[in-house]
Amino acid sequence: MSALDPIFHATREELDALQLQRLTSILHHAYENNASYRRKFDAAGVRPDDLGSLDCLAKFPFTTKSDLREAYPFGFFAVPMEKVVRIHASSGTTGKPTVVGYTKNDLNAWSGLVARSIRAAGGRAGMKVHIAYGYGLFTGGLGAHYGAEAAGCMVIPMSGGQTEKQVQLICDFEPDIIMVTPSYMLAILDEFRRQGRDPRATSLRVGLFGAEPWGEGMRSEIEREFGIDACDIYGLSEVMGPGVAQEFAQTKDGPTIWEDHFLPEIVEPKTGTPVDEGQEGELVLTSLLKEAMPVIRYRTRDLTRLLPGSVTAMRRMAKISGRCDDMLIIRGVNVFPSQIEEMILRCAGLTPHHEIEITRRNRLDEIQILIEARTDLNEEAQAAEALRLAVKLKDHIGISADIRIVPHNSLTRSAGKANRVRDRR
Ligand code: DLL
Repeated sequence: MSALDPIFHATREELDALQLQRLTSILHHAYENNASYRRKFDAAGVRPDDLGSLDCLAKFPFTTKSDLREAYPFGFFAVPMEKVVRIHASSGTTGKPTVVGYTKNDLNAWSGLVARSIRAAGGRAGMKVHIAYGYGLFTGGLGAHYGAEAAGCMVIPMSGGQTEKQVQLICDFEPDIIMVTPSYMLAILDEFRRQGRDPRATSLRVGLFGAEPWGEGMRSEIEREFGIDACDIYGLSEVMGPGVAQEFAQTKDGPTIWEDHFLPEIVEPKTGTPVDEGQEGELVLTSLLKEAMPVIRYRTRDLTRLLPGSVTAMRRMAKISGRCDDMLIIRGVNVFPSQIEEMILRCAGLTPHHEIEITRRNRLDEIQILIEARTDLNEEAQAAEALRLAVKLKDHIGISADIRIVPHNSLTRSAGKANRVRDRR
């Protein structure tokens, strides 16, 4: 591992120096080759040469998803179109997608980072990787695919969906590694059980799970049920795709941000001011090497904290606790869906399959949680589990929820990112 990834040996001082040098040139590249950045920098009264130290980055304007949308489709590209060899797009909840572009060098860098991520999770050349992230405009499938090839692995490009076939191919092709959203991994688990196959008996040893928030409860569930190491992979299409940060299997202490390529900051979501070291806030990322579409201070909307490096000197991020735009306010209490999920996973009789519905009656918010119980619970036991969860939600989060236990397999399974919240207010 170390011979392949010399950056793992860099000291903090070396990383700072490398970042400053790369940041200087990416600011020049963005300013000189993209009209949107030029306008934004000019409006803020800053020039690339104003960067004296890494801290000076705070003088530069943020880039937001709506900036990218306004420039739809290609307005944030900073190279001539003929240098762009691939695009991806992320489908927002409304309106136009955000389009991102890559040069040949960008694709090589991306594959290199995903390969590094696979190695950090314990993957090695010669292993087989089953990819169940969706292929297409979403960065998950193709990003994982080329990264796994670059790591010298054999790729099984299954994509998302066709759950029965997922199970069959895992059993027949004997992959060592799986790359998939954690929620779809649970749907695959159900299918193993439905087919009467033992999920612990597969060849799988490692999983790289990401594209949506998942907590420690979900990690234990997946690790226990499949008998594998479950590591967190983080990324977003605007910044590159999967592989911006990756958790090491040996520590499982939050994803290490690949700081030779990305510079992280944490800001207060409302004001945009930097938070104190180690405090939670919104993750802001600057790409240090991307050619086709550099991102300068991109507001990810993801909430996390920066932690000191552990396996390497590169900083880690705590597992994402939610997104600024995911936060639900229920009768004045701020709630993240991931908190509800953690409480559910603490109830041994309940499965992680749930849906959250919020309505407003007589001007009051009401939250209903539909949840599948483990199959072997009788009615009385189900009611006891529902009560246990209700108490946990009240004690730990401060909300009163109406909990309905629904039959096994009655809630929709998503083949990609889970979509569990229906806000009907
Ligand atoms: O989800 C890229 C990706 C694919 C990452 C496969 C990991 C694995 P987008 O569709 O642009 O890109 O969505 C990015 O997903 O801002 C987070 O809110 C969320 N997300 C991604 N990874 C994680 C993670 C891909 N490990 C958005 N934990 C991000 C929590 C994650 N949330």
